[in-house]
Amino acid sequence: MPTYQLKVNGQPREVEATSETPLLWILRDDLNLVGTKYGCGIGSCGACTVHLDGVAMRSCQTPVGKLAESGQAVTTIEGLSDDGSHPVQRAWLEHDVPQCGYCQSGQIMSAVSLLQNSPQPSDAEIDAGMSGNICRCGTYVRIHAAVKTAAK
Ligand code: FES
Repeated sequence: MPTYQLKVNGQPREVEATSETPLLWILRDDLNLVGTKYGCGIGSCGACTVHLDGVAMRSCQTPVGKLAESGQAVTTIEGLSDDGSHPVQRAWLEHDVPQCGYCQSGQIMSAVSLLQNSPQPSDAEIDAGMSGNICRCGTYVRIHAAVKTAAK
């Protein structure tokens, strides 16, 4: 199998995989970064959201071969902070957002990306920016409130 050089959470990492292997499985199975979750595997739920060069992307839809070719840097939920001190993580704690918690790392990664693009988002911008992340527990009201708090 070929090897690929990746940059993940600021560190160079070498992985062995077929070129079509989704980044999601590289992160979880090879690099033990299990904060990134598998939900649907078809790009529909947002549970697997990570940042590629700061932009929120679905890791289940990102083949490792293409990623290595692009040289884009990967940031996962583990790369935001060591101790949950990122402002978005703090806002999530303040609003006690998670219920089961499964989708929340993807939610937070989308929120961070949204706030990078739009530091003071309107209600409509929050709804639009977070609309690709599904939560089966229905924590949307608290997610919205936490994004507003993080924007302050
Ligand atoms: Fe990637 Fe659902 S697991 S979008």
